[in-house]
Amino acid sequence: MKLIRAKDYADLSIKAANIISSVVTLKPDCVLGLATGSSPVGAYEELVKKYQAGVLDFSRVKAVNLDEYVGLSKEHDQSYAYFMRTNLFDHINIDPANCHIPSGLTDDPEGECAAYDRLISDLGTDLQLLGIGPNGHIGFNEPDSVFLPHTHCVTLTETTINANARFFANRDEVPRRAYTMGIWGIMQAKRILMVVSGSSKAAVLKEMLTGPVDPNVPASVLQLHPDCTVIADRDALAVLDR
Ligand code: F6R
Repeated sequence: MKLIRAKDYADLSIKAANIISSVVTLKPDCVLGLATGSSPVGAYEELVKKYQAGVLDFSRVKAVNLDEYVGLSKEHDQSYAYFMRTNLFDHINIDPANCHIPSGLTDDPEGECAAYDRLISDLGTDLQLLGIGPNGHIGFNEPDSVFLPHTHCVTLTETTINANARFFANRDEVPRRAYTMGIWGIMQAKRILMVVSGSSKAAVLKEMLTGPVDPNVPASVLQLHPDCTVIADRDALAVLDR
């Protein structure tokens, strides 16, 4: 695992966007695995700037997202589909037909999850971008006694509901379940790039990097990936560096 130290969130975002840009430049028809949440927002802003400056072309890029809340339509302003459109897709020349995310409204959850795994397998991700939850989750793979490999429906933990309540009008509005790419879906990516910012992630970052590989800290599985880069800012590195 490679660790890149960033000064702050702005620096982290520029560094992450530079790595993603290099993938798009080297392989214009690449497959990007994308994440939502606050961690990648700055990197998405930097990618939009590069697109607007004429430096990047997304016309042949495909995107496959990590997760979606159960029960939210893609038009709902708290859905991850909406997040991706407003933070990235609407501002670059990616083809909407090439942007994939599980449907939060499917009436066939098993079929939807199996189809998502077939899609991931057919596409093959070139770079998977990740954040990390304060409990060590990646995607919505919550701490568990086993690593769940495939796309599945997960009941969110109290920690995750509390952490994500800041995006909703109140805590009761946070959906209790989500569809998430599983650990296989994440680990099959050729490269992984994780962005970690802020002191609320400092303890779990140390655990993920230096603790045992343990499904109770889902992100620790990344220790087994052959090409994983973590970009962390000073606040996130505080516990590791102590
Ligand atoms: C988002 C996702 C989550 C987030 C994690 C961190 O698609 O899958 O694992 O990356 O919850 O969220 P933020 O970045 O908001 O702290």
